[in-house]
Amino acid sequence: MKHSKPQSPTPNPQKIIVEKLIKSAKSAVKFAYTPYSKFRVGAAILTSKGKIFSGTNIENASYGLTICAERVAVFKAVSEGEKKFKALAIYTNTKDFTYPCGACLQVMAEFSPNLYVVLINNKGEIKQHSISSLLPHTFNKTI
Ligand code: THU
Repeated sequence: MKHSKPQSPTPNPQKIIVEKLIKSAKSAVKFAYTPYSKFRVGAAILTSKGKIFSGTNIENASYGLTICAERVAVFKAVSEGEKKFKALAIYTNTKDFTYPCGACLQVMAEFSPNLYVVLINNKGEIKQHSISSLLPHTFNKTI
């Protein structure tokens, strides 16, 4: 019987890209500006063209002006001409998963009704949710 060379597993492009997205969300926390809460959040968004934009939370002495990591990532992408997204990853160095706040969900839903939200904790565990399960009813333009 002829022995064929062991085949290396076929790379799964979907898996590779999600791993890249997670890596990007994790590395974004190093730029977090969080002198008030000390809660560092990293986010990264994947566009339909396969580009990744990262973001981190930026706080302000006037607390209400703070912006979440997720919205920074979305706004960076939109301000560079990207409006179609596939997935957004959120990482915090905590054992609990960090879910996006309602304001961020509304902003994500504006652009991507079919977005996947990927949550990563500090144990490397992953949870995935559709945006419609996190925000079933979005506000839509009335005019
Ligand atoms: N924060 C985020 O960046 N994303 C979230 O999903 C929840 C909250 C930030 C805002 C603030 O800088 C800190 O976490 C504490 O609320």
